[in-house]
Amino acid sequence: MLNYFIGTLAAVLPLTAAAPYGLSSRSSLEGCKDLSFGSNFAWEIEDFTYSASYHFTTPAHQVSGGSVNFNLTNPGLTEKVACTAYSTWLNDFFYGNVNYNCTKPDGSTTETSFAFSRPSGQLNVNQTWTCTDEDPQYPTTFHGYGAVNLTLSCNETNYQNPDWQEGETYSLRTISCAPVTLPLKPYDKTAVA
Ligand SMILES: *[C@@H]1O[C@H](CO)[C@@H](O)[C@H](O)[C@H]1NC(C)=O
Ligand SMILES: *[C@@H]1O[C@H](CO)[C@@H](O)[C@H](O)[C@H]1NC(C)=O
Ligand SMILES: *[C@@H]1O[C@H](CO)[C@@H](O)[C@H](O)[C@H]1NC(C)=O
Ligand SMILES: *[C@@H]1O[C@H](CO)[C@@H](O)[C@H](O)[C@H]1NC(C)=O
Ligand SMILES: *[C@@H]1O[C@H](CO)[C@@H](O)[C@H](O)[C@H]1NC(C)=O
Repeated sequence: MLNYFIGTLAAVLPLTAAAPYGLSSRSSLEGCKDLSFGSNFAWEIEDFTYSASYHFTTPAHQVSGGSVNFNLTNPGLTEKVACTAYSTWLNDFFYGNVNYNCTKPDGSTTETSFAFSRPSGQLNVNQTWTCTDEDPQYPTTFHGYGAVNLTLSCNETNYQNPDWQEGETYSLRTISCAPVTLPLKPYDKTAVA
């Protein structure tokens, strides 16, 4: 079940001279500013996956970890950012309390971070992006905040070595969830011109 909030938007009138431009103008699409101000603005979360493995090398020693992967696109920008995280914090690995940075293309000024909670399925996304399509000398920078509760469909495998010897795997449990793609509308957005 997805809950979308209508974004509120606070535009701050330009008070200062133009910020430097250049790098970000390459990634801003025509219509970026209008789209970003629009009430239908939404990111696309692409192929969100969660997977985990709990590997016991002996009855008392485990090497376990979970990972999250997805791409995020902004309809106003050409670029795609890659969001990945790996954690060894047992037992669910992700608790929504760590903000991970996403990786952007070289030269991009976009900043994206996310937090994920495996127990609740909540994904939080923050992004700062700049539109230079209307007047590259007066770019508009947006901050967006989004949240969604993901319902993941996951498969689990369990292996228990019936005749364990030192040096073998004692047990292995894996969890792998089907990729989820969905639009994410910010619950809040601000703009600074
Ligand atoms: C993200 O996009 C890149 C480039 O298109 C692709 O190689 C990668 O597999 C994608 N990752 C996910 C998690 O969809
Ligand atoms: C994430 O990016 C922000 C802004 O560039 C930076 O201040 C912060 O230290 C980064 N966080 C991590 C965990 O790398
Ligand atoms: C998003 O921004 C809010 C407000 O600055 C902050 O409290 C939250 O930790 C941030 N979340 C992420 C995933 O960066
Ligand atoms: C996710 O679920 C929790 C608990 O039910 C709720 O408090 C929260 O508002 C939900 N978040 C979103 C974005 O729907
Ligand atoms: C889970 O297993 C079912 C049946 O084998 C398969 O159809 C499905 O694609 C699997 N899902 C994932 C996320 O691996």
